[in-house]
Amino acid sequence: MSNENQKPSATPAAVEPKDSNSPFLSEPLPQGTAQGQQHSLNQVQQDAPVSASVPKYNLPRGANTGNVGSTTHFGYQTVNSDDKAQKVAEVFHSVAAKYDIMNDLMSFGIHRLWKRFAINMSGVRRGQHVLDIAGGTGDLAKVFSREVGPSGRVVLSDINESMLNVGRDRLIDAGCSNVDFVLANAETLEPFADNSFDLLTISFGLRNVTDKDAALEAMYRVLKPGGRLLILEFSKPIFEPFSKLYDLYSFTALPIMGKLIANDAESYKYLAESIRMHPDQRTLKGMMEHAGFQNCDYHNLTAGIVAVHRGFKL
Ligand SMILES: C[S@@+](CC[C@H](N)C(=O)[O-])C[C@H]1O[C@@H](n2cnc3c(N)ncnc32)[C@H](O)[C@@H]1O
Repeated sequence: MSNENQKPSATPAAVEPKDSNSPFLSEPLPQGTAQGQQHSLNQVQQDAPVSASVPKYNLPRGANTGNVGSTTHFGYQTVNSDDKAQKVAEVFHSVAAKYDIMNDLMSFGIHRLWKRFAINMSGVRRGQHVLDIAGGTGDLAKVFSREVGPSGRVVLSDINESMLNVGRDRLIDAGCSNVDFVLANAETLEPFADNSFDLLTISFGLRNVTDKDAALEAMYRVLKPGGRLLILEFSKPIFEPFSKLYDLYSFTALPIMGKLIANDAESYKYLAESIRMHPDQRTLKGMMEHAGFQNCDYHNLTAGIVAVHRGFKL
């Protein structure tokens, strides 16, 4: 994978919510580091040479629940469970700068319709508090910012500083003044207090998370009673002939596009593989129920290429 060109510059601004006493945070964030980590991403990169024993990217803490065995999958590869987050980090550091254009090209713009559908299912209202997990470049957060209005609040959160930087710049340019930007691992959602949000969304993020059960439990924890969770994710196509065509497209065209546009075929090979490894519609619904969500359902979009799962904390 070639990610040298798209690594964050040596001096990007730290990604922190503007208000370090945000009502959603379990405790104020320390100044100068991303989410209270001992070193910011910038420091890790400046401390050259980085030895093999030091993580390449300093990531917000993940879960240590025992839900996942010593190995797990990274696309079709079997990797040490502790290494998966680093590998996912490399993918998204590499693609961050070209992420939005690649999304439009790969999906022929259809990802915008999928996201619109999910937003319509959210029932979001003015004054509400929304957390977009693994929110990346902020497509959903941007719309929620408008929908909740000045009396509401949106948190755009992601594990990856490069993606979050792109999202933050974009939303600030768009005048979204009611949005906080917080580095957080979906497996723990550590910075957020219990029962904080009316609405949680995670769009095309869950399949990248190592311990999905822990992530769903963390989501349940930070959701207010009466709140809802929406998961927009690639899923299992329900029409077999279509599924063959889709495979052909994913495993040939996507890596080629990735090479041409983002100079990174490997990350887009991972995209195709990670989609195939993600739990299907019914399995994911069962996982949500296991985490405590009630009245769970899902809607297939584009013949099940994508599904929106919804669940409530009652
Ligand atoms: C395909 S992008 C989706 C971005 C955005 N939500 C969208 O729909 O366009 C996946 C995002 O998940 C983030 N991610 C991966 N693992 C994560 C984790 N454990 N916790 C939080 N975010 C994670 C990545 O950094 C990346 O920004």
